[in-house]
Amino acid sequence: MTTNVLISPTYEFYLNGEWKESQSGQTIDIKSPYLHEIIGKVQAITKEEVDEAICSAHKAQKKWAETSLQQRASYLYKWADELVNMQDEIAEVIMQEVGKSLKDSKNEVVRTADFIRYTVEEALHMHGESMKGDSFPGGSKSKVAIIERVPLGVVLAIPPFNYPVNLAAAKLAPALISGNAVIFKPATQGSISGIKMIEALHKAEFPKGLVNIVTGRGSVIGDYLVEHKGIDMISFTGGTNTGVRLAKKAGMIPLVLELGGKDPGIVREDADLEKAAQQIISGAFSYSGQRCTAIKRVLVHVNVADELVGILKEEIEKLSVGSPEEGSTVVPLIDDQSADFVQGLIDDAIEKGATVVTGNKRDRNLIYPTLLDQVTEDMRIAWEEPFGPALPVIRVSSDEEAIKIANKSEFGLQASVFTKDINKAFSIANKMETGSVQINGRTERGPDHFPFIGVKGSGMGAQGIHKSIESMTREKVTVLNLTD
Ligand code: NAP
Ligand code: G3H
Repeated sequence: MTTNVLISPTYEFYLNGEWKESQSGQTIDIKSPYLHEIIGKVQAITKEEVDEAICSAHKAQKKWAETSLQQRASYLYKWADELVNMQDEIAEVIMQEVGKSLKDSKNEVVRTADFIRYTVEEALHMHGESMKGDSFPGGSKSKVAIIERVPLGVVLAIPPFNYPVNLAAAKLAPALISGNAVIFKPATQGSISGIKMIEALHKAEFPKGLVNIVTGRGSVIGDYLVEHKGIDMISFTGGTNTGVRLAKKAGMIPLVLELGGKDPGIVREDADLEKAAQQIISGAFSYSGQRCTAIKRVLVHVNVADELVGILKEEIEKLSVGSPEEGSTVVPLIDDQSADFVQGLIDDAIEKGATVVTGNKRDRNLIYPTLLDQVTEDMRIAWEEPFGPALPVIRVSSDEEAIKIANKSEFGLQASVFTKDINKAFSIANKMETGSVQINGRTERGPDHFPFIGVKGSGMGAQGIHKSIESMTREKVTVLNLTD
Protein backbone atom coordinates (compact mmCIF):
# COMPACT_ATOMS: atom_id res chain seq x y z
CA MET A 1 0.00 0.00 0.00
CA THR A 2 2.90 2.37 0.56
CA THR A 3 6.10 2.69 -1.44
CA ASN A 4 8.96 3.67 0.82
CA VAL A 5 10.97 6.38 -0.81
CA LEU A 6 14.29 7.53 0.62
CA ILE A 7 12.95 10.46 2.65
CA SER A 8 9.22 9.96 3.04
CA PRO A 9 6.71 7.34 1.93
CA THR A 10 4.53 7.89 -1.10
CA TYR A 11 0.97 6.83 -0.40
CA GLU A 12 -1.32 5.42 -3.04
CA PHE A 13 -5.00 6.14 -3.41
CA TYR A 14 -7.69 3.48 -3.09
CA LEU A 15 -9.75 2.64 -6.13
CA ASN A 16 -12.05 -0.32 -6.55
CA GLY A 17 -10.43 -2.20 -3.68
CA GLU A 18 -6.86 -1.66 -4.89
CA TRP A 19 -4.04 0.72 -3.95
CA LYS A 20 -2.85 2.66 -6.98
CA GLU A 21 -0.52 5.35 -8.17
CA SER A 22 -2.22 8.08 -10.14
CA GLN A 23 -1.85 8.26 -13.91
CA SER A 24 -1.13 11.96 -13.38
CA GLY A 25 2.33 11.00 -12.17
CA GLN A 26 1.96 13.84 -9.69
CA THR A 27 2.03 13.77 -5.92
CA ILE A 28 1.39 16.32 -3.18
CA ASP A 29 3.92 16.82 -0.39
CA ILE A 30 2.48 16.61 3.10
CA LYS A 31 4.51 18.68 5.53
CA SER A 32 4.21 18.22 9.28
CA PRO A 33 3.07 21.42 11.02
CA TYR A 34 5.62 20.99 13.81
CA LEU A 35 8.43 18.91 12.32
CA HIS A 36 8.43 21.31 9.38
CA GLU A 37 9.47 18.52 7.06
CA ILE A 38 7.75 16.40 4.48
CA ILE A 39 6.34 13.28 6.12
CA GLY A 40 4.82 11.75 3.01
CA LYS A 41 3.39 12.31 -0.43
CA VAL A 42 -0.12 11.56 -1.65
CA GLN A 43 -1.41 11.09 -5.17
CA ALA A 44 -2.84 14.06 -7.05
CA ILE A 45 -5.43 12.06 -8.94
CA THR A 46 -6.98 12.90 -12.30
CA LYS A 47 -10.59 13.61 -13.23
CA GLU A 48 -10.67 10.30 -15.12
CA GLU A 49 -9.70 8.52 -11.92
CA VAL A 50 -12.49 10.37 -10.10
CA ASP A 51 -14.89 9.05 -12.77
CA GLU A 52 -13.55 5.53 -12.31
CA ALA A 53 -13.94 5.73 -8.55
CA ILE A 54 -17.53 6.92 -8.80
CA CYS A 55 -18.35 4.28 -11.39
CA SER A 56 -16.95 1.48 -9.22
CA ALA A 57 -18.83 2.88 -6.21
CA HIS A 58 -22.11 2.71 -8.13
CA LYS A 59 -21.56 -0.89 -9.13
CA ALA A 60 -20.66 -1.93 -5.59
CA GLN A 61 -23.53 -0.01 -4.03
CA LYS A 62 -26.22 -1.91 -5.94
CA LYS A 63 -25.14 -5.23 -4.40
CA TRP A 64 -24.34 -3.73 -1.00
CA ALA A 65 -27.85 -2.31 -0.67
CA GLU A 66 -29.22 -5.82 -1.16
CA THR A 67 -27.22 -7.32 1.71
CA SER A 68 -28.84 -7.67 5.11
CA LEU A 69 -28.24 -5.13 7.83
CA GLN A 70 -26.55 -7.86 9.88
CA GLN A 71 -24.11 -8.61 7.04
CA ARG A 72 -23.23 -4.95 6.69
CA ALA A 73 -22.88 -4.72 10.46
CA SER A 74 -20.29 -7.50 10.52
CA TYR A 75 -18.03 -5.58 8.11
CA LEU A 76 -18.32 -2.40 10.15
CA TYR A 77 -17.55 -4.22 13.38
CA LYS A 78 -14.43 -5.69 11.74
CA TRP A 79 -13.40 -2.24 10.60
CA ALA A 80 -13.77 -0.89 14.16
CA ASP A 81 -11.64 -3.78 15.46
CA GLU A 82 -8.94 -3.13 12.84
CA LEU A 83 -8.85 0.53 13.81
CA VAL A 84 -8.29 -0.42 17.43
CA ASN A 85 -5.53 -2.84 16.35
CA MET A 86 -3.90 -0.04 14.37
CA GLN A 87 -4.46 2.69 16.96
CA ASP A 88 -0.78 3.31 17.75
CA GLU A 89 0.23 3.47 14.11
CA ILE A 90 -2.68 5.70 13.11
CA ALA A 91 -2.29 7.98 16.13
CA GLU A 92 1.37 8.53 15.29
CA VAL A 93 0.38 9.56 11.75
CA ILE A 94 -2.37 11.92 12.97
CA MET A 95 0.10 13.53 15.35
CA GLN A 96 2.71 14.06 12.66
CA GLU A 97 0.29 15.16 10.00
CA VAL A 98 -2.01 17.56 11.86
CA GLY A 99 0.05 18.22 14.99
CA LYS A 100 -2.41 16.83 17.54
CA SER A 101 -0.92 15.45 20.77
CA LEU A 102 -0.35 11.70 20.79
CA LYS A 103 -2.91 11.23 23.58
CA ASP A 104 -5.59 13.18 21.69
CA SER A 105 -4.69 11.39 18.45
CA LYS A 106 -5.14 8.02 20.14
CA ASN A 107 -8.42 9.20 21.64
CA GLU A 108 -9.52 10.17 18.16
CA VAL A 109 -8.91 6.64 16.86
CA VAL A 110 -10.62 4.95 19.80
CA ARG A 111 -13.54 7.41 19.66
CA THR A 112 -13.87 6.52 15.98
CA ALA A 113 -14.06 2.78 16.68
CA ASP A 114 -16.72 3.49 19.32
CA PHE A 115 -18.53 5.70 16.85
CA ILE A 116 -18.63 2.94 14.24
CA ARG A 117 -19.93 0.38 16.73
CA TYR A 118 -22.63 2.71 18.01
CA THR A 119 -23.64 3.50 14.43
CA VAL A 120 -24.20 -0.20 13.79
CA GLU A 121 -26.24 -0.57 16.95
CA GLU A 122 -28.32 2.49 16.14
CA ALA A 123 -29.04 1.22 12.62
CA LEU A 124 -30.03 -2.18 13.96
CA HIS A 125 -32.67 -0.48 16.07
CA MET A 126 -34.07 1.88 13.44
CA HIS A 127 -37.29 0.61 11.94
CA GLY A 128 -39.73 1.81 9.37
CA GLU A 129 -43.38 2.53 10.09
CA SER A 130 -46.75 1.77 8.62
CA MET A 131 -49.87 3.94 8.33
CA LYS A 132 -53.46 3.10 7.71
CA GLY A 133 -55.42 5.21 5.23
CA ASP A 134 -58.33 5.01 7.66
CA SER A 135 -61.27 7.25 6.86
CA PHE A 136 -59.20 10.07 5.36
CA PRO A 137 -61.26 11.60 2.49
CA GLY A 138 -60.88 9.82 -0.86
CA GLY A 139 -61.95 6.31 0.01
CA SER A 140 -58.62 5.45 1.59
CA LYS A 141 -59.85 2.94 4.15
CA SER A 142 -58.39 0.07 2.17
CA LYS A 143 -54.90 1.58 1.93
CA VAL A 144 -51.88 0.73 4.06
CA ALA A 145 -48.58 2.57 3.61
CA ILE A 146 -45.28 0.86 4.46
CA ILE A 147 -42.62 3.49 5.04
CA GLU A 148 -38.99 2.41 4.92
CA ARG A 149 -35.67 4.19 4.68
CA VAL A 150 -33.58 3.39 1.60
CA PRO A 151 -30.00 4.44 0.79
CA LEU A 152 -29.34 7.44 -1.43
CA GLY A 153 -26.59 5.78 -3.49
CA VAL A 154 -23.06 7.21 -3.58
CA VAL A 155 -22.17 9.58 -0.75
CA LEU A 156 -19.36 12.09 -1.17
CA ALA A 157 -17.64 12.51 2.21
CA ILE A 158 -15.44 15.58 2.68
CA PRO A 159 -14.00 16.15 6.16
CA PRO A 160 -11.65 18.91 7.42
CA PHE A 161 -8.06 18.57 8.61
CA ASN A 162 -8.64 18.76 12.35
CA TYR A 163 -10.23 15.34 12.90
CA PRO A 164 -8.91 13.55 9.83
CA VAL A 165 -10.04 10.12 11.01
CA ASN A 166 -13.01 10.79 13.26
CA LEU A 167 -14.86 13.29 11.11
CA ALA A 168 -14.25 11.08 8.07
CA ALA A 169 -15.60 7.94 9.75
CA ALA A 170 -18.52 9.98 11.09
CA LYS A 171 -19.60 10.17 7.45
CA LEU A 172 -18.45 6.75 6.21
CA ALA A 173 -20.00 4.63 8.95
CA PRO A 174 -23.59 5.93 8.68
CA ALA A 175 -23.35 5.90 4.89
CA LEU A 176 -22.16 2.29 4.76
CA ILE A 177 -24.46 0.80 7.38
CA SER A 178 -27.45 2.23 5.56
CA GLY A 179 -26.48 0.71 2.21
CA ASN A 180 -24.59 3.51 0.47
CA ALA A 181 -21.19 3.50 -1.20
CA VAL A 182 -18.69 6.26 -0.43
CA ILE A 183 -16.28 8.52 -2.26
CA PHE A 184 -14.01 9.84 0.46
CA LYS A 185 -12.09 13.00 -0.32
CA PRO A 186 -9.87 13.72 2.68
CA ALA A 187 -8.52 17.16 3.56
CA THR A 188 -5.16 17.29 1.83
CA GLN A 189 -3.46 17.93 5.18
CA GLY A 190 -5.03 14.85 6.75
CA SER A 191 -4.86 12.58 3.71
CA ILE A 192 -2.27 10.23 5.16
CA SER A 193 -4.37 9.77 8.30
CA GLY A 194 -7.39 9.15 6.05
CA ILE A 195 -5.42 6.61 4.03
CA LYS A 196 -4.44 4.80 7.24
CA MET A 197 -8.09 4.66 8.24
CA ILE A 198 -8.89 3.15 4.85
CA GLU A 199 -6.09 0.61 5.34
CA ALA A 200 -8.03 -0.57 8.39
CA LEU A 201 -11.20 -0.70 6.30
CA HIS A 202 -9.37 -2.65 3.59
CA LYS A 203 -8.33 -5.22 6.20
CA ALA A 204 -12.00 -5.69 7.03
CA GLU A 205 -12.47 -6.87 3.42
CA PHE A 206 -15.40 -4.71 2.42
CA PRO A 207 -16.59 -5.40 -1.14
CA LYS A 208 -14.37 -3.84 -3.82
CA GLY A 209 -15.39 -0.40 -4.98
CA LEU A 210 -17.69 0.29 -2.04
CA VAL A 211 -15.30 2.85 -0.56
CA ASN A 212 -12.79 4.77 -2.63
CA ILE A 213 -10.36 7.39 -1.37
CA VAL A 214 -9.65 10.17 -3.83
CA THR A 215 -6.72 12.36 -2.89
CA GLY A 216 -6.05 15.74 -4.42
CA ARG A 217 -6.47 19.38 -3.56
CA GLY A 218 -10.03 20.56 -3.02
CA SER A 219 -9.23 23.55 -5.20
CA VAL A 220 -8.37 21.18 -8.06
CA ILE A 221 -10.78 18.23 -7.86
CA GLY A 222 -13.35 19.59 -5.37
CA ASP A 223 -15.74 21.27 -7.81
CA TYR A 224 -15.50 18.35 -10.21
CA LEU A 225 -16.50 15.94 -7.44
CA VAL A 226 -19.30 18.09 -6.09
CA GLU A 227 -20.85 18.68 -9.52
CA HIS A 228 -20.40 15.07 -10.64
CA LYS A 229 -23.62 13.45 -11.84
CA GLY A 230 -22.65 10.22 -10.06
CA ILE A 231 -22.80 11.76 -6.58
CA ASP A 232 -26.12 11.29 -4.77
CA MET A 233 -25.44 12.99 -1.45
CA ILE A 234 -22.72 15.21 0.00
CA SER A 235 -21.65 15.26 3.62
CA PHE A 236 -19.23 18.12 4.20
CA THR A 237 -17.45 19.46 7.26
CA GLY A 238 -15.16 22.44 6.92
CA GLY A 239 -15.00 26.19 6.64
CA THR A 240 -18.05 28.33 5.95
CA ASN A 241 -16.71 29.80 2.70
CA THR A 242 -16.01 26.34 1.30
CA GLY A 243 -19.43 25.13 2.46
CA VAL A 244 -21.25 28.01 0.80
CA ARG A 245 -19.36 27.35 -2.43
CA LEU A 246 -20.33 23.67 -2.30
CA ALA A 247 -23.97 24.49 -1.65
CA LYS A 248 -24.07 26.67 -4.78
CA LYS A 249 -22.50 23.95 -6.89
CA ALA A 250 -24.48 21.02 -5.49
CA GLY A 251 -27.82 22.08 -6.95
CA MET A 252 -30.50 19.60 -5.88
CA ILE A 253 -28.11 17.01 -4.43
CA PRO A 254 -28.94 16.46 -0.74
CA LEU A 255 -26.30 18.14 1.36
CA VAL A 256 -25.32 18.25 5.01
CA LEU A 257 -22.94 21.04 5.97
CA GLU A 258 -21.15 21.37 9.30
CA LEU A 259 -19.19 24.60 9.15
CA GLY A 260 -17.36 27.16 11.25
CA GLY A 261 -18.35 28.60 14.59
CA LYS A 262 -17.87 31.51 16.98
CA ASP A 263 -19.20 29.83 20.09
CA PRO A 264 -19.75 32.23 22.98
CA GLY A 265 -19.15 31.35 26.62
CA ILE A 266 -21.70 33.50 28.48
CA VAL A 267 -20.72 33.99 32.11
CA ARG A 268 -23.44 35.40 34.34
CA GLU A 269 -22.76 37.31 37.51
CA ASP A 270 -23.88 34.33 39.62
CA ALA A 271 -21.67 31.75 37.88
CA ASP A 272 -19.18 29.50 39.65
CA LEU A 273 -16.22 31.36 38.19
CA GLU A 274 -13.60 28.70 38.91
CA LYS A 275 -15.65 26.06 37.13
CA ALA A 276 -16.56 28.39 34.28
CA ALA A 277 -12.90 29.31 33.77
CA GLN A 278 -11.84 25.68 33.71
CA GLN A 279 -14.47 24.84 31.07
CA ILE A 280 -13.70 27.95 29.03
CA ILE A 281 -9.99 27.18 28.94
CA SER A 282 -10.48 23.57 27.97
CA GLY A 283 -13.05 24.69 25.39
CA ALA A 284 -10.94 27.47 23.93
CA PHE A 285 -7.40 26.14 23.95
CA SER A 286 -7.39 22.36 23.53
CA TYR A 287 -5.62 21.50 20.26
CA SER A 288 -4.82 25.21 20.04
CA GLY A 289 -8.47 26.09 19.48
CA GLN A 290 -8.53 24.23 16.16
CA ARG A 291 -12.00 22.85 16.84
CA CYS A 292 -15.20 24.11 15.29
CA THR A 293 -16.73 23.89 18.76
CA ALA A 294 -13.97 25.78 20.56
CA ILE A 295 -15.22 28.60 22.79
CA LYS A 296 -14.24 31.57 20.66
CA ARG A 297 -15.44 34.52 22.75
CA VAL A 298 -16.31 35.13 26.38
CA LEU A 299 -19.28 37.37 27.17
CA VAL A 300 -18.93 38.08 30.88
CA HIS A 301 -20.96 40.25 33.22
CA VAL A 302 -18.97 43.35 34.00
CA ASN A 303 -19.35 42.87 37.78
CA VAL A 304 -17.37 39.61 37.72
CA ALA A 305 -15.18 40.29 34.68
CA ASP A 306 -12.02 41.27 36.60
CA GLU A 307 -12.24 38.16 38.76
CA LEU A 308 -12.89 35.85 35.81
CA VAL A 309 -10.09 37.37 33.74
CA GLY A 310 -7.75 36.95 36.72
CA ILE A 311 -8.56 33.24 37.02
CA LEU A 312 -8.33 32.73 33.25
CA LYS A 313 -4.92 34.41 33.14
CA GLU A 314 -3.55 32.26 35.94
CA GLU A 315 -4.82 29.02 34.38
CA ILE A 316 -3.86 29.91 30.80
CA GLU A 317 -0.31 30.54 31.90
CA LYS A 318 -0.19 26.97 33.22
CA LEU A 319 -1.08 25.48 29.81
CA SER A 320 1.65 23.43 28.18
CA VAL A 321 2.84 24.96 24.94
CA GLY A 322 5.04 23.27 22.37
CA SER A 323 5.35 20.01 20.53
CA PRO A 324 2.47 17.52 20.26
CA GLU A 325 5.09 14.84 20.90
CA GLU A 326 5.42 16.25 24.42
CA GLY A 327 1.66 16.16 24.88
CA SER A 328 1.30 19.94 24.78
CA THR A 329 -2.18 21.44 24.82
CA VAL A 330 -1.19 24.41 22.69
CA VAL A 331 0.65 23.19 19.62
CA PRO A 332 1.75 24.78 16.34
CA LEU A 333 -1.15 25.65 14.06
CA ILE A 334 -1.75 23.66 10.90
CA ASP A 335 0.32 26.04 8.77
CA ASP A 336 2.02 29.45 8.72
CA GLN A 337 -0.90 31.05 6.91
CA SER A 338 -3.30 30.09 9.71
CA ALA A 339 -0.89 31.55 12.28
CA ASP A 340 -0.64 34.77 10.24
CA PHE A 341 -4.43 34.99 10.24
CA VAL A 342 -4.67 34.58 14.04
CA GLN A 343 -1.88 37.10 14.55
CA GLY A 344 -3.75 39.53 12.28
CA LEU A 345 -6.85 39.26 14.51
CA ILE A 346 -4.76 39.84 17.64
CA ASP A 347 -2.95 42.84 16.11
CA ASP A 348 -6.20 44.40 14.93
CA ALA A 349 -7.72 44.08 18.42
CA ILE A 350 -4.67 45.61 20.11
CA GLU A 351 -4.62 48.46 17.63
CA LYS A 352 -8.26 49.19 18.44
CA GLY A 353 -7.70 49.21 22.21
CA ALA A 354 -7.93 45.63 23.50
CA THR A 355 -5.69 44.69 26.42
CA VAL A 356 -3.34 41.72 26.18
CA VAL A 357 -3.84 39.84 29.46
CA THR A 358 -1.44 37.08 28.50
CA GLY A 359 0.18 35.70 25.36
CA ASN A 360 0.64 37.49 22.06
CA LYS A 361 3.89 35.66 21.60
CA ARG A 362 4.67 33.75 18.44
CA ASP A 363 7.28 31.32 17.23
CA ARG A 364 6.65 30.64 13.53
CA ASN A 365 3.24 28.86 13.44
CA LEU A 366 3.14 28.35 17.21
CA ILE A 367 0.94 31.04 18.76
CA TYR A 368 1.08 31.16 22.54
CA PRO A 369 -2.32 31.09 24.24
CA THR A 370 -3.56 34.65 24.13
CA LEU A 371 -6.27 36.29 26.22
CA LEU A 372 -7.56 39.67 25.12
CA ASP A 373 -9.69 41.78 27.46
CA GLN A 374 -11.80 44.89 26.79
CA VAL A 375 -12.65 43.59 23.34
CA THR A 376 -15.31 45.69 21.63
CA GLU A 377 -17.64 45.15 18.72
CA ASP A 378 -15.54 47.12 16.24
CA MET A 379 -12.74 44.55 16.49
CA ARG A 380 -12.50 41.69 14.00
CA ILE A 381 -11.82 39.15 16.75
CA ALA A 382 -15.26 39.87 18.20
CA TRP A 383 -16.78 38.23 15.10
CA GLU A 384 -14.26 36.21 13.10
CA GLU A 385 -13.27 32.61 13.81
CA PRO A 386 -9.54 32.45 14.64
CA PHE A 387 -9.27 28.62 14.63
CA GLY A 388 -6.32 29.27 16.90
CA PRO A 389 -5.50 29.98 20.55
CA ALA A 390 -6.72 33.58 20.85
CA LEU A 391 -9.66 34.27 23.14
CA PRO A 392 -11.46 37.63 23.32
CA VAL A 393 -13.30 38.78 26.44
CA ILE A 394 -16.25 41.11 25.88
CA ARG A 395 -17.73 42.70 28.99
CA VAL A 396 -21.52 42.98 29.11
CA SER A 397 -23.88 44.54 31.62
CA SER A 398 -26.92 42.26 31.28
CA ASP A 399 -28.19 38.93 29.98
CA GLU A 400 -29.96 40.83 27.23
CA GLU A 401 -26.72 42.38 26.04
CA ALA A 402 -24.96 38.99 26.11
CA ILE A 403 -27.78 37.43 24.09
CA LYS A 404 -27.78 40.30 21.61
CA ILE A 405 -24.02 40.06 20.96
CA ALA A 406 -24.11 36.26 20.91
CA ASN A 407 -26.84 36.26 18.27
CA LYS A 408 -25.35 39.05 16.19
CA SER A 409 -22.75 36.55 14.93
CA GLU A 410 -22.97 35.14 11.42
CA PHE A 411 -22.36 31.72 13.05
CA GLY A 412 -24.73 29.54 15.08
CA LEU A 413 -23.00 26.34 16.16
CA GLN A 414 -23.08 26.15 19.96
CA ALA A 415 -23.07 28.39 23.03
CA SER A 416 -22.23 27.86 26.69
CA VAL A 417 -24.06 29.51 29.56
CA PHE A 418 -22.46 29.53 33.01
CA THR A 419 -24.84 30.29 35.89
CA LYS A 420 -26.19 28.82 39.11
CA ASP A 421 -29.71 29.87 38.17
CA ILE A 422 -31.25 27.05 36.12
CA ASN A 423 -34.27 29.15 35.14
CA LYS A 424 -32.03 31.89 33.76
CA ALA A 425 -29.93 29.25 32.02
CA PHE A 426 -32.99 27.92 30.18
CA SER A 427 -34.27 31.38 29.45
CA ILE A 428 -30.93 32.30 27.80
CA ALA A 429 -30.68 28.92 26.06
CA ASN A 430 -34.14 29.41 24.57
CA LYS A 431 -33.03 32.67 22.99
CA MET A 432 -29.75 31.41 21.53
CA GLU A 433 -29.64 31.15 17.74
CA THR A 434 -27.40 28.08 17.79
CA GLY A 435 -27.71 24.36 17.13
CA SER A 436 -26.96 23.48 20.77
CA VAL A 437 -26.53 25.23 24.09
CA GLN A 438 -24.40 23.82 26.88
CA ILE A 439 -25.37 24.75 30.42
CA ASN A 440 -22.35 24.94 32.73
CA GLY A 441 -20.13 23.02 30.33
CA ARG A 442 -17.83 23.72 27.43
CA THR A 443 -19.09 23.65 23.87
CA GLU A 444 -18.37 20.30 22.24
CA ARG A 445 -19.75 17.86 19.69
CA GLY A 446 -20.00 14.70 21.75
CA PRO A 447 -21.35 12.41 22.98
CA ASP A 448 -21.45 11.38 19.35
CA HIS A 449 -25.02 10.13 19.40
CA PHE A 450 -26.35 13.58 20.31
CA PRO A 451 -27.63 15.58 17.35
CA PHE A 452 -24.90 17.96 16.17
CA ILE A 453 -26.32 20.96 14.38
CA GLY A 454 -25.01 24.20 12.98
CA VAL A 455 -27.43 26.96 12.02
CA LYS A 456 -26.88 30.25 10.15
CA GLY A 457 -23.28 30.29 8.84
CA SER A 458 -22.47 27.16 10.87
CA GLY A 459 -24.28 24.74 8.65
CA MET A 460 -27.30 23.04 7.27
CA GLY A 461 -28.85 19.74 8.30
CA ALA A 462 -27.68 17.67 11.22
CA GLN A 463 -25.02 15.15 12.15
CA GLY A 464 -24.85 12.86 15.17
CA ILE A 465 -25.25 9.14 14.64
CA HIS A 466 -29.03 8.85 14.25
CA LYS A 467 -29.32 12.10 12.30
CA SER A 468 -26.49 11.13 9.95
CA ILE A 469 -28.16 7.83 9.12
CA GLU A 470 -31.37 9.72 8.40
CA SER A 471 -29.56 12.22 6.19
CA MET A 472 -28.00 9.47 4.09
CA THR A 473 -31.26 7.65 3.50
CA ARG A 474 -34.65 8.73 2.25
CA GLU A 475 -38.12 7.58 3.04
CA LYS A 476 -39.78 5.32 0.54
CA VAL A 477 -43.48 4.60 0.71
CA THR A 478 -45.08 1.44 -0.66
CA VAL A 479 -48.86 1.49 -0.56
CA LEU A 480 -50.84 -1.69 -0.28
CA ASN A 481 -54.38 -1.39 -1.70
CA LEU A 482 -56.43 -4.04 0.02
CA THR A 483 -59.52 -5.56 -1.46
CA ASP A 484 -62.36 -7.09 0.56
P1 NAP B 1 -11.70 23.88 4.56
O1 NAP B 1 -10.53 24.62 4.07
O2 NAP B 1 -13.05 24.41 4.26
O3 NAP B 1 -11.55 22.39 4.01
C1 NAP B 1 -12.48 21.39 4.34
C2 NAP B 1 -12.48 20.33 3.25
O4 NAP B 1 -12.99 20.89 2.04
C3 NAP B 1 -11.09 19.80 2.90
O5 NAP B 1 -11.22 18.42 2.65
C4 NAP B 1 -10.77 20.54 1.63
O6 NAP B 1 -9.83 19.88 0.82
C5 NAP B 1 -12.13 20.55 0.97
N1 NAP B 1 -12.30 21.52 -0.10
C6 NAP B 1 -11.66 22.69 -0.30
N2 NAP B 1 -12.13 23.28 -1.41
C7 NAP B 1 -13.09 22.48 -1.92
C8 NAP B 1 -13.95 22.55 -3.06
N3 NAP B 1 -13.94 23.55 -3.90
N4 NAP B 1 -14.81 21.52 -3.26
C9 NAP B 1 -14.85 20.47 -2.42
N5 NAP B 1 -14.06 20.36 -1.34
C10 NAP B 1 -13.20 21.35 -1.08
O7 NAP B 1 -11.65 23.71 6.16
P2 NAP B 1 -10.40 23.25 7.06
O8 NAP B 1 -9.39 24.33 7.07
O9 NAP B 1 -10.00 21.87 6.70
O10 NAP B 1 -11.11 23.17 8.50
C11 NAP B 1 -11.29 24.28 9.28
C12 NAP B 1 -12.71 24.81 9.21
O11 NAP B 1 -13.62 23.74 9.34
C13 NAP B 1 -13.04 25.75 10.33
O12 NAP B 1 -13.81 26.83 9.84
C14 NAP B 1 -13.86 24.92 11.28
O13 NAP B 1 -14.72 25.65 12.11
C15 NAP B 1 -14.59 24.06 10.34
N6 NAP B 1 -15.01 22.82 10.99
C16 NAP B 1 -16.34 22.66 11.27
C17 NAP B 1 -16.78 21.54 11.94
C18 NAP B 1 -18.23 21.33 12.28
O14 NAP B 1 -18.60 20.18 12.51
N7 NAP B 1 -19.06 22.35 12.33
C19 NAP B 1 -15.86 20.55 12.29
C20 NAP B 1 -14.52 20.75 12.01
C21 NAP B 1 -14.10 21.90 11.35
P3 NAP B 1 -8.30 20.40 0.74
O15 NAP B 1 -7.73 20.18 2.08
O16 NAP B 1 -7.74 19.56 -0.31
O17 NAP B 1 -8.38 21.86 0.36
O1 G3H C 1 -13.93 20.63 14.95
C1 G3H C 1 -15.08 20.25 14.99
C2 G3H C 1 -15.46 19.02 15.66
O2 G3H C 1 -16.72 18.59 15.22
C3 G3H C 1 -15.44 19.27 17.13
O3 G3H C 1 -15.53 18.09 17.83
O4 G3H C 1 -16.18 19.10 20.00
O5 G3H C 1 -15.46 16.73 19.86
O6 G3H C 1 -13.80 18.57 19.55
P1 G3H C 1 -15.23 18.13 19.40
